[in-house]
Amino acid sequence: MSTFSGFYKKSRQERIDLLVHERALSEESLAILQQDHNLPETIAGKMAENHLGTFALPFSVVPEFWLNGQEYSLPMVTEEPSVVAACSLGAKIIGKSSGFTATIHERLMIGQVALYDIPNSAEARQQILAETDTILNLANQGHPSIVKRGGGARKIQVEEKDEFLIVYLSVDVKEAMGANILNTMLEGMKDYLEDLTKGKALMAILSNYATESLVTAECRIAISTLATSSAIAQETAEKIALASRLAQVDPYRAATHNKGIFNGIDALVLATGNDWRAVEAGAHAYAGRDGQYRGLSTWEIEGEELVGQLTIPLPIATVGGSIGLNPKVQVAFDILGQPDARTLAGLIAATGLCQNFAALRALVTTGIQQGHMKLHAKSLAILAGATEAEVDTIAQQLRKEKHTNLETAKRLLQLLRQEKEA
Ligand code: HMG
Repeated sequence: MSTFSGFYKKSRQERIDLLVHERALSEESLAILQQDHNLPETIAGKMAENHLGTFALPFSVVPEFWLNGQEYSLPMVTEEPSVVAACSLGAKIIGKSSGFTATIHERLMIGQVALYDIPNSAEARQQILAETDTILNLANQGHPSIVKRGGGARKIQVEEKDEFLIVYLSVDVKEAMGANILNTMLEGMKDYLEDLTKGKALMAILSNYATESLVTAECRIAISTLATSSAIAQETAEKIALASRLAQVDPYRAATHNKGIFNGIDALVLATGNDWRAVEAGAHAYAGRDGQYRGLSTWEIEGEELVGQLTIPLPIATVGGSIGLNPKVQVAFDILGQPDARTLAGLIAATGLCQNFAALRALVTTGIQQGHMKLHAKSLAILAGATEAEVDTIAQQLRKEKHTNLETAKRLLQLLRQEKEA
């Protein structure tokens, strides 16, 4: 039996103790977890404007997750019940087979300078390409510290699109997400490009469509592990493959399919202090890259295995932005074993695939409501004002009711308390 079996049934303190032991967490992380330290006021006030305080969300963990032959625990920040449970269950099933693999295709960030009002676009394009070295040097002069770290501007591409001539710059940003690096470099190129092309620069900005930071996660699940009956296991695998084909042909289903993927991705991106809007924007653009919005993952049967694959752009950082400022983010990195940006990007893609598997498995078997409502009932009980000792009883009663809502939860709580008093 796994060390983490029944992890969710343990108390918060027992979970912390187990994690500290199994993942060798630092004293600082232990202190932050135990006292549930949040963002200090002084830092929060510098991160965003007009701040009034801080805003908390649950900080959870998926205890065991296998990627590229190594075991991890995944920190997750999410407000939605059943996401962490589903990812834990998915990771458990997939861990019984080979776990996940992830491949980082490339890790360059792209930015653009959009030029317009150019007298001769074709000529300007040739001039820009002829001056590639000068432009790359200019970009690097704009941000010498990334060059010192072994990164820097790598290539430019020029494309005419409608009335625009667009210069794309690709930069190796090392462990950063690169927004500041790219924006500084691009703004440093603007005047030169205007002089060279006799045109005007409309804007110079990073692109969140990070097609040169693609990551592929894959898993191969032995179909026999999907259910105790081999006929049901085979039927489940076939239905998951069918569900993946549905998400390829119907944008209405594709959006929900991808939302399920982002349940996992966003939770890990948020826990590690990364920019989830950037990740979402890039991945949704990628989902529509051939003109139709499609599911980002695919599931196929290959012999005795169900094979899942997910490729997405992941502009992920381990330094910069708010990463070094938020104490909980530091704990998240400690739980993950201080991964570099490539490993973290692989973990994030694999988490998306895992979350998608768990959702599809539930959808094509019991339906989503059974598991979801089991956990949602607990949230409603808490919202209704149930104490820790009352939550489980109210949640259980709530699931037997026709209307699982806040009103019912309040009524059940009132009845329970009246019975106790009587
Ligand atoms: P279950 O089979 O009742 O779980 O599933 P179980 O009680 O037999 O426990 C099995 C394992 O699940 C446990 O192993 C845990 O790993 C995990 P153990 O520790 O016992 O060895 N687990 C939990 N972990 C933490 N807290 C818990 C917990 N319960 C079980 N409370 C489960 C129950 C909810 C996991 C299952 O029904 C499920 O995976 N459902 C899918 C839920 C889901 O995807 N939720 C996301 C929100 S719905 C949505 O937004 C997306 C969607 O629209 C996307 C789409 O359409 O594609 C669905």
